[in-house]
Amino acid sequence: MTIGVGLLGLGTVGAGVADILSNPSGRHPLVGQLELRRVAVRDVSRPRPVALADHLLTTDPEAVVDDPAVDIVVEVIGGLEPARSLILRAIAAGKPVVTANKAVIARYGQEIAAAAAARGVYVLIEAAVGGGIPIIEPLKQSLGANRIQRVSGIINGTTNYILSRMASEGAAYGDVLAEAQRLGYAEADPAADVEGGDAADKISILATLAYGGSIERSAIPTEGISRLEARDVDYAAQLGFVVKLLAVAEHLGSDPDGTEQLDVRVHPTLLPKDHPLAGVHGVNNAILVEGEPVGQVMFYGPGAGAGPTSSAVVADILNIAGIRQAAGANGALDPLLAAGSWRQCRLVESGLTQHRNYVRLETTDEAGVIGRIGTCFGREQVSIQSIVQFETSGGAAEIVVITHEVSEASFRAALAAIADLPEVQTVAATLRTL
Ligand code: NDP
Ligand code: HSE
Repeated sequence: MTIGVGLLGLGTVGAGVADILSNPSGRHPLVGQLELRRVAVRDVSRPRPVALADHLLTTDPEAVVDDPAVDIVVEVIGGLEPARSLILRAIAAGKPVVTANKAVIARYGQEIAAAAAARGVYVLIEAAVGGGIPIIEPLKQSLGANRIQRVSGIINGTTNYILSRMASEGAAYGDVLAEAQRLGYAEADPAADVEGGDAADKISILATLAYGGSIERSAIPTEGISRLEARDVDYAAQLGFVVKLLAVAEHLGSDPDGTEQLDVRVHPTLLPKDHPLAGVHGVNNAILVEGEPVGQVMFYGPGAGAGPTSSAVVADILNIAGIRQAAGANGALDPLLAAGSWRQCRLVESGLTQHRNYVRLETTDEAGVIGRIGTCFGREQVSIQSIVQFETSGGAAEIVVITHEVSEASFRAALAAIADLPEVQTVAATLRTL
């Protein structure tokens, strides 16, 4: 039995999906039973990397969703609207949905999951996090027996590509970003990549799956790489670290009413050179899941681009197609594949969290400065791992401090006192350290 696929969007990801569906040879036998029936684009006259019959293309995405020949709707338009409304429209029509759209899922996932559960259809999102890496279904299913302590990772391909090429070749930030856009890695608005928003969308999705409750997306502390200075990457390297944009979701405890306390955040981070995530370069992503009793499990692979992402999208289509074939079009939902949430979660106020930190200070170059900085940290119980003076010129010095793990509130209080020292010209950079 052939299954009709309706594609919303034929850009980087959509064209990759169309390419797989039109070339089933050598793939899973079910791929040959999927047929692309309608495709929505913005501009039908645009040249495409895949050859499709003209009659398949339309500029009316609702017509694709409503087409009776379309059994599964694949949303790869991106952005919030009309993507959200089209997903809800498909669900209302009883059609399963596959989407790569992390922006929509991070903000409207609960609404979409509730609508899908009420209507008894699947919404699968494997491509929304980690590109070609299977991480969504493993978190939902294969690791379901675990208490997840932490999910951390490099989950934005564009920024990892930029940071890797800047570190390995000294390439200029703007040039590498343009290259990432040309290769189809970046979002339509690349600010989502470089300001950390895309990684925040993804970690909120992973946290929801790992901890079973929805996360307030707008409350996630988020810092991207656009303000990262090359000299900090260089000093970090001299101290034995690499800088990566890290997304972290960590379980800190539970409230008396059972609400889970989470620390969820995105920021550039100094990783020791021997850390498993430090060797993840280019467009690759990696996600480290720490759970009890499994221990540490790492997922690694290409995190963006047409091929990897369409691999994940088509895997979701195959999951749905396989279940339809086994159970009939209206068969019961498999609870592990279907979305679900069962706990309350809340983000812990950032001042109460604990981290290691890197600080770069611009100071006057005179006797006693390092001692006075050390005293400010000591007064707030902030323990220092190392303090190093780098550049010195014209009576000015740069001092880099790495702290042990300390409370964020104490660290901020110490930093405020340091900023007030007459010898300190500026607190030039602060970064997290693992
Ligand atoms: P593109 O910008 O390359 O493609 C978007 C497609 O949607 C285009 O074909 C565009 O038409 C079409 N489109 C946009 N608006 C409308 C509309 N109103 N009606 C009909 N068609 C419309 O995006 P990507 O393929 O890169 O990304 C798609 C989704 O996948 C996004 O949610 C993205 O975050 C996600 N994603 C992307 C990855 C990647 O590596 N690129 C990886 C993982 C997820 P036209 O071609 O005519 O302009
Ligand atoms: N812009 C995203 C990235 C695409 O660079 O990771 C994959 O989600």
